[in-house]
Amino acid sequence: MKIQLKVNEIDKVFDVEPGEMLADVLNRYKYTVRRGCDTGSCGLCTILLNGKPITSCSYLAVRAGGHSITTIDGVQEKAKEIGEFLVAEGVDQCGYCSPGFVMNVIAMEKELKNPTEEEINHYLVGNLCRCSGYVGHLRALKKYLGVSE
Ligand code: FES
Ligand code: FES
Repeated sequence: MKIQLKVNEIDKVFDVEPGEMLADVLNRYKYTVRRGCDTGSCGLCTILLNGKPITSCSYLAVRAGGHSITTIDGVQEKAKEIGEFLVAEGVDQCGYCSPGFVMNVIAMEKELKNPTEEEINHYLVGNLCRCSGYVGHLRALKKYLGVSE
């Protein structure tokens, strides 16, 4: 079946199977979506659906029809900016978790004004990093958001 989507501000029509997950479709059409657990648990495959983060590995593609999607490909400048804060805090180890992390940060920035540390931690709880305990990420993020220590 065919579904219409706006992906990174461009209207698209994709062929999808009824049970196909959105991450599979996006990968098939050459968008960058990293995968880890494929069970909705690690956050690597996070994209934005109408500006809200979802784990695309566990979201049926047909449900996204008619909606607007943002992948990491569509936010390169912002990703670079956030990445520079991570590098400055020395937490860009393998970088595998970074795309999911960046997508969540972009959504959080829009949703929460002057978030507390607890709110930040709560927002990012589904985004796992294999290399660090997230202490450095949190430090970088607070600097990026201008949240005082
Ligand atoms: S790959 Fe989707 S949540 Fe882990
Ligand atoms: S930096 Fe390696 S998984 Fe996060």
